[in-house]
Amino acid sequence: MPVRGVINLPGDKSISHRALMLASLTDGECVIHNISTGDDVETTRKCLSKCGIVSSKEYAAVRISGGPFETPKHALNCGNSGTTVRLLAGLLSGKGISVEFTGDNSLRKRPMNRIINPLTQMGVDFKSNDGYLPIKISPNNIKGITYSPQVASAQVKSAVILAGLGGEGETVIIEKIKTRDHTELMLAEIGANVSIGDKICIKPLYTPLKTFELTVPGDPSSAAFFGALAALLPNSDICIKNILTNPTRIGFFSLLEKMGARIEWKNVHQNYGEWVGDIHIYSQPLNGIDITKEMVPSIIDELPIIAVLASQADSPTTVSGAEELRVKESDRINAICLNLAKMGCEVIERQDGFIISPGNSLVNTNIKTFADHRIAMAFTIAGFITPERNVLDNENCINISFPEFNSILNTVMQ
Ligand code: S3P
Repeated sequence: MPVRGVINLPGDKSISHRALMLASLTDGECVIHNISTGDDVETTRKCLSKCGIVSSKEYAAVRISGGPFETPKHALNCGNSGTTVRLLAGLLSGKGISVEFTGDNSLRKRPMNRIINPLTQMGVDFKSNDGYLPIKISPNNIKGITYSPQVASAQVKSAVILAGLGGEGETVIIEKIKTRDHTELMLAEIGANVSIGDKICIKPLYTPLKTFELTVPGDPSSAAFFGALAALLPNSDICIKNILTNPTRIGFFSLLEKMGARIEWKNVHQNYGEWVGDIHIYSQPLNGIDITKEMVPSIIDELPIIAVLASQADSPTTVSGAEELRVKESDRINAICLNLAKMGCEVIERQDGFIISPGNSLVNTNIKTFADHRIAMAFTIAGFITPERNVLDNENCINISFPEFNSILNTVMQ
């Protein structure tokens, strides 16, 4: 059964988090349309409101006013959201707010030393549970630093940039591999003194940022699930309108093209410093691919669905240099390999990736999601190439990023 149709998707999760946080640094009201409807972004909005930042939400539009900030009465619970805790730790350090952060079972297992180390150099005192949540920040006289993150992480880069906005002196970030650049692009649009090149240089804010009214482009990480479905089911043809086409985020679609799918971009234009366009995906037979470390940041969130695609290719796929997947919402290398193997796929697990053999005829099964939204959605899609559908042990986790996933899926099934 092919998938066909034209769809619009909720706003990009990464940009939605950043739009809320940067709006808090303006001196008036900002409006954010098509904001991500997932739980993670709502967590950021609620945490900001505990810090005195007033906002209101009507379905996918948020009105939010800039500071003043106040010290929250209790620990900020960041739920499942790594972006919320890591970026807010930077933002609130820059505002001189002392606060504790905690999160759910998954977030409490995710490493925080990656932000503790640079923010400590910038003047923040930390108390942590040995590099894990709960962590408490006590910022004193924040100063800019020159920093080259050990791990390729937009969350770490953004935490340092946001702290630097409230410090003394310039902050410089040198990335070994470029990661998503939404923080610096949006800051440049709304009046911060930032230069973006081989290194990112940012000066402290001496005046508030400019207020803005923004429509968040559709989330390319959500689009990947529909792109994969169209590529997998013969005679499919799907168009996804107004998605973010920022080069740091569309690695999945470049890879899908290299695997043999036919892809066309249309109406590509710029909006608030970000590229946006419509993408058409047509099914074609797929070949395998070698994925190496330098490619990983641009497909970091899409590797679960890429693994599903690879299982249907006519040559092997290898993924290496992707150990970051072990510290996402779940250990995604293990979750991918375990569930693909349960479906009958020949897969070898490696510490930093996996190898998938070609020509697998998969069977539907019970999927262990580890409460990880992207594992749940990837293996829902995998269930469309099996005789019957997969059964997930946790459907609700999909709401973390994409509550509309199943209803949009129903609209494209012919
Ligand atoms: C994100 C960055 C990525 C990504 C996450 C969202 C962001 O994490 O996996 O889903 O919005 O900055 P890392 O920066 O830790 O790789």
